[in-house]
Order: sequence, then C-alpha cells, then structure tokens
Amino acid sequence: MTTPSPTDLLSLAGRTMLITGAGQGVGKQTALVAAAHGAKVVVNDYHLDRAETVAGEITEAGGTAVALRCDVTDLDEVTGMVERAQATFDGIDILVNNAGNAGPAQDPMAAAPPFWETGPKEWDPWMGTSFYGVLNGARAVLPGMVERQYGRVITVISDAGRVGDPNLVVYSGAKAGAAGFSRGLARAVGRHGITVNCVALSAIRTRGVATATENEALVAAMLKQYVIRRLGEPSDAANMILFLASEASSWITGQTYPVNGGFALNQ
Ligand SMILES: NC(=O)c1ccc[n+]([C@@H]2O[C@H](COP(=O)([O-])OP(=O)(O)OC[C@H]3O[C@@H](n4cnc5c(N)ncnc54)[C@H](O)[C@@H]3O)[C@@H](O)[C@H]2O)c1
Repeated sequence: MTTPSPTDLLSLAGRTMLITGAGQGVGKQTALVAAAHGAKVVVNDYHLDRAETVAGEITEAGGTAVALRCDVTDLDEVTGMVERAQATFDGIDILVNNAGNAGPAQDPMAAAPPFWETGPKEWDPWMGTSFYGVLNGARAVLPGMVERQYGRVITVISDAGRVGDPNLVVYSGAKAGAAGFSRGLARAVGRHGITVNCVALSAIRTRGVATATENEALVAAMLKQYVIRRLGEPSDAANMILFLASEASSWITGQTYPVNGGFALNQ
C-alpha cells in the first residue's frame, strides 16, 4: 500500500466548500486557499458585492467559485442559499461557519456598556451570527452530507469563547456555545462520515477588527500575551481550516484548535 503524500492529503479536488462571511478577512483567505487546493467554492457574504469580488478573483486565477448572498442569522435564507449552491454544484462537502465579527465593542479601549445594563436587543446580533448562524449553516447542509455519508463542518470561534472577553461578554458566550454545539454535533454525525471541529482565533489582522489591530498601544499590550510576538494573519487561520477540511484530518472530530500565537497557553 502506498502512503499518500501530505500534499495529496491536503488536496480538496472534487470537493465543494461553502464559506460564510467570505467577502473579506479570514473567510476570503479561506476561499482563496481552498480554491488553490482544488475546491469548488461557494463564497457567501451578507454583502453580495464583496462575495462577487472574491469569486471573481478565484475564477480569474483558474478556479471554480460562485458568489451567493444570504444573512446567516435567517434559517430560510441559509436553506435557500444551500439549495442554490446545490443546483450549481453537486452538493456541499465542507461547510465553514465563518461569518461573524467582533461588532461595535470590537475596540477594547472603547467603553462597552456593562452586561447588566443590556438586554435581548444588544444580545441578539451576537447570538444571531455567532451562535444561530452556526446552527443554521449546519442545519442546511447536513441532510445532504448524511445522504452522501461524508462531510466536514468547521466553525470559526474566538479565544473570547475559550477564556472570556470582559468587553465582549455575549460574543464570548455565543462563541463558546458554538464550540459546545460542535462537540455534541460531532458525536451525533460521526457515524455518517462527518467530522465537526472549531478553530479559535485571537487577534487576526482583518478589516473587521482594524480599530483594535491598528491601535499601537493596544497591540503592544496584546503582544505581551502572545508567545509568537506578532498579530495573526488571515492565512494563519485559513491554513488550519484547510487542514481540518482535508483528508489529513479524517480522524479528528469534536475538537477546538486555537490559532493564536500561543495566547493563553494554560487554558
Ligand atoms: N479577526 C480577528 O481578530 C478574530 C478574532 C477571533 C475570532 N474571529 C472570528 O473570525 C471570523 C472572521 O472574522 P474576520 O475578522 O475575518 O471578520 P470581518 O468582519 O473582516 O469579515 C466578516 C465577513 O462576514 C460577513 N458577515 C457578517 N455577518 C454576516 C451574516 N449575518 N451573514 C453573512 N455574512 C455576514 C461580513 O459582511 C464580512 O464580509 C468571525 O467569526 C470572527 O468572530 C476573528
């Protein structure tokens, strides 16, 4: 028996990957890396123009991609998007639940209202994207994955969900919830050839968190906590997602992998 090379194991040839929130940042880089490894890519974003630009970059480079808009907080919209994707490609083999952002309190120097002064109006956007968005994506793709007895569900969470962020309390809960959901789901679908994992990020230089990552004093404070003293790049996250999407990770499920330069090593 010949052992496949690591390069072959990372190939996504013949697979279709749907990435939510792929119009910029981590999702965009994941789309580019997946396409470069042979995947047909469904580029989703709330902002269709962003998704179209990314899909255009992929097709110009010789890859295969389609841009589809939907708001991941709405199950009907997500289901409709998956149906359109399945009409274009055969089915979704890999779902990357990436949509989300650190939102209005993303600048930790800015005063976020204390949790005890907030209510569902403030909580719902966090829960909608970072928790319900994950459930919606999984709900929409799993029937096809179970039918085909193959699938990968990868969710981008945050170190806020592992260690907690005092300025992003509900976001922390939503991301931790997504990780707990993923562990339960992993147990439920493993016998169908489907793996479910999470990637937990610390500060990655994207447009979504630019107010934080372009604040020199804040960056200096953050870097003191990072063993590898630089901020993350979208490619740091995308490379781990590629691994979890590929055959190289076929015996890994129910896990959360920090991609964070060694932040919070004792957690
Ligand atoms: N950048 C970081 O430092 C960091 C740290 C920890 C976790 N994360 C997580 O990584 C993921 C990607 O972050 P990023 O920094 O690349 O974000 P970003 O804000 O740069 O890009 C996110 C994209 O998602 C889209 N989006 C947002 N809500 C959506 C919705 N409801 N439906 C569809 N699309 C939606 C946005 O339009 C945007 O194009 C998020 O889940 C985020 O919580 C990021």
